Amino acid sequence: MQTTIKNIENDLCGQLTRTTLAKEIEDIRIAFLGKKGSITLLLSQMKELSLEDKKIFGPLMQALRQMAETSIDERKNYLVQQEAQAETVKSQLFDVTVNVSKAQEGHLHPYTHIIEEIQQIFLSMGYEIWDGPEVETDFYNFSALNIPQDHPARDMYDTFWTNIPGNLLRTHTSTVQIRAMQERTPPIAGIAPGRTYRHEAVDASHDYQFMQCEGLFVDKNVTIGHLFATAQTFLKAFFGKDTLDIRIRPGFFPFVEPGFEIDMRCVFCKNGCSVCKQSTWIEVFPGGMVHPNVLKAGGIDPEQYAGFAFGFGLTRLGMLKYGIDDIRLLYSGKLKFLEQF
Ligand code: DAH
Repeated sequence: MQTTIKNIENDLCGQLTRTTLAKEIEDIRIAFLGKKGSITLLLSQMKELSLEDKKIFGPLMQALRQMAETSIDERKNYLVQQEAQAETVKSQLFDVTVNVSKAQEGHLHPYTHIIEEIQQIFLSMGYEIWDGPEVETDFYNFSALNIPQDHPARDMYDTFWTNIPGNLLRTHTSTVQIRAMQERTPPIAGIAPGRTYRHEAVDASHDYQFMQCEGLFVDKNVTIGHLFATAQTFLKAFFGKDTLDIRIRPGFFPFVEPGFEIDMRCVFCKNGCSVCKQSTWIEVFPGGMVHPNVLKAGGIDPEQYAGFAFGFGLTRLGMLKYGIDDIRLLYSGKLKFLEQF
């Protein structure tokens, strides 16, 4: 009898230790303490024992039942607690293998790309990068650039005037030429990319705000040849061409003398297309030799120094390079457009 009691006790302890799931404890309770459980059966055998044996084994059996009840409860409580803890830990960890959708990446605006490319090319030629105010005075936008009051050339620029007399939104980046000359002594070489404003009706190729890039080079013995070479070097690098034909035509701008329109061979076709209006040439780079009056306004002696200047449409060149056919897209905020860059 004693061995049976011992065996049941060992068996129960073994089963309880091996069980790691709280929900399985109930099965163990039934197996030992249920109606047909081994301890219940053993207890029911009590009545068959002699009085003598009852005295010896009765307390042992009772103790076994007590022990079984407590150990089952304790093990169950312990496992329930463990499972709760494991659940908390699991909810705090994250699964590094789980498939997550790709995070949306930001993009640089096409203007940022274009400006950086232009700056890189001119920096490599030893130019500085300049900045200037977008709200300007009549002096920097017109008078200092050899466009005095009532000069008909003012009609070329549909100007936004502000409420403050003599103040305007700059119509071109040429304003920065004057500021640069005033602050420096030759040799001077720099570009000024930036926003410009004109009172224009908006359509696919016109906007009341757009971007230009002004360039200025002042030194002794500067010639037209330097201007043409600079234009060609820049255009080749910007459009990624090993060779690029340029063509020079006379052009009128009050701030240069002589003034030119520099065209490049159409990069899109050989025999004419809609971009070059069937001419195979695209007008891209206006410039000229800085007018003596403009050098003077910048505080530079035209007897000693000469210079060339240019001012191309940054927006226009960018649209040509990236095949953007509607200027309004640049400020549309349309993701489908922006995500391409
Ligand atoms: N400022 C002129 C414009 O907006 C462009 C220009 C032409 C700038 C010739 C220059 C230049 O510096 O030399 O139309």
